[in-house]
Amino acid sequence: MEINVLKPTEQNEAEILIVGLSRHPDNADGWKGLEKRFDGRLADWIKGGLSFDLNSLSIYPTLKGDIPRVLFVGIGDRKKLTEDELRRSFGIAGKQLVKEKIRHAAIYTASFENGEVNGEQVAHLAAEGIQMGAYRFADYKTNSNEVDHRVESLSFLTEQPADAIRQAAFVGTVHAEAVNEARTLVNMPANILTPTAMAEYAQELSEAYGFETDILGRSEIEELGMGALLAVNQGSVEEPRLIVMKYKATDSFEAPLALVGKGITFDTGGYSLKPKDGIVGMKGDMGGAAAVLGAMRVIGELKPDKDVVAVIASTDNMVSGNAFKPDDVITSMSGKTIEILNTDAEGRLVLADAVTYAKQLGASQVVDVATLTGGVIVALGKDKTGALTNDEAFYGKLLDVSKKTGEFVWQLPLTESDKKRLRKSDVADLNNSPGRDGHMIFGGGFVGEFVGDTPWIHLDIAGTSHADAAHDLGPAGGTGAMVRTLASFVEKLGNKE
Ligand code: BES
Ligand code: ZN
Ligand code: ZN
Repeated sequence: MEINVLKPTEQNEAEILIVGLSRHPDNADGWKGLEKRFDGRLADWIKGGLSFDLNSLSIYPTLKGDIPRVLFVGIGDRKKLTEDELRRSFGIAGKQLVKEKIRHAAIYTASFENGEVNGEQVAHLAAEGIQMGAYRFADYKTNSNEVDHRVESLSFLTEQPADAIRQAAFVGTVHAEAVNEARTLVNMPANILTPTAMAEYAQELSEAYGFETDILGRSEIEELGMGALLAVNQGSVEEPRLIVMKYKATDSFEAPLALVGKGITFDTGGYSLKPKDGIVGMKGDMGGAAAVLGAMRVIGELKPDKDVVAVIASTDNMVSGNAFKPDDVITSMSGKTIEILNTDAEGRLVLADAVTYAKQLGASQVVDVATLTGGVIVALGKDKTGALTNDEAFYGKLLDVSKKTGEFVWQLPLTESDKKRLRKSDVADLNNSPGRDGHMIFGGGFVGEFVGDTPWIHLDIAGTSHADAAHDLGPAGGTGAMVRTLASFVEKLGNKE
């Protein structure tokens, strides 16, 4: 995406001008200039019903100036407009730009500003929202009726210092592009996005940004004794992969933050087979891995001052004569033994070994992200990510960041009695499925058993990583949940805490 910053009066190639229409127009610098562009017709249009309502869109011809059309975006009461609302408004505008087949758009920055949101934030949110809204998954139809159309440039018309506006728009662009890549990974079917293909993607990402990468295949995973990852992979014809990517902000790389992702490319449930309605869509069970890969892309672009190691455990969970079974007892890399009560509780198994590996690499903080349980959807709905933690202060920082990124995160409790139930087994140290009552907590809590005292946050994105219907910031399908929050969290931790 090309970003330009121009003075409002400068000559400009855009096909459309995006203007925020507020109930307090008198605050907008240059409202008069706008009136001039419309040859005094603005007042007539407003009288004729041009809507100020939040998220309403109206397109008119501009009567003067070099931009032929204007897209009015209703922002309701400018004084009450929040960052999240503005991001969504730009998302809706982005969808409209695609519909109108517009490649070059200009944004009248001042028309979106208020006491809370300054020009730089507008630039960030516009670049982010428009590109998220404009996302389409390139499908596999031989005769696709979706024309390949993209917005190629955004020009910010502003009197403010160009460098700051350009940088803010760049950050927004990086965020949106990473989210969109993560969406594509989630939308890809499992016969195409195999663990091997995911590892190749990670390798390419690493080459682009200079991450040190280790891709472990079956024999290395066996050598490490990752019995939990291997158990899940046992019924598959696809080789498992453990993907490790290091972003070194310092040479010492002594105590990195670990981002650990669940990369189940397809979850049949195994012998605890999912019902036919529950199995469709399970190509998205690598949403946690996609979030980590997306965050690493942002990290590669923005280079925060924080060492990060990404660890992704990837396999599919299949049924076959070799597959693992309920009642099996397996030994994880940590040495802890696990009684399998439900082969569909596989995410926590692969995460257990991934977390153990991250700790062995010296991780001083761990965030795991996973489409782990249907329970989180029952508890919180599909628009909230569920969280667990063993360190409230550490979690508090992520929560602050999530409020800025507009990704709703809600913490659930993890109590000693929950832990007791995870440790209850006649034959092993742990069981992988203590019950369905409050089972989001058991899913994450199981991972916590392998983290120990290291500051840790668990994010269950089973609800948020996939949208059943189109929404303000994108179409139905993969959402790229937690990409922006994870990346911004790393940025915050790098800012000398
Ligand atoms: N991949 C699923 C969780 C999931 C459910 C993701 C719906 C996205 C949408 C996970 O592996 C799973 O099957 N969890 C079980 C756990 C249960 C067996 C304790 C679940 O949630 O039912
Ligand atoms: Zn499962
Ligand atoms: Zn799963």
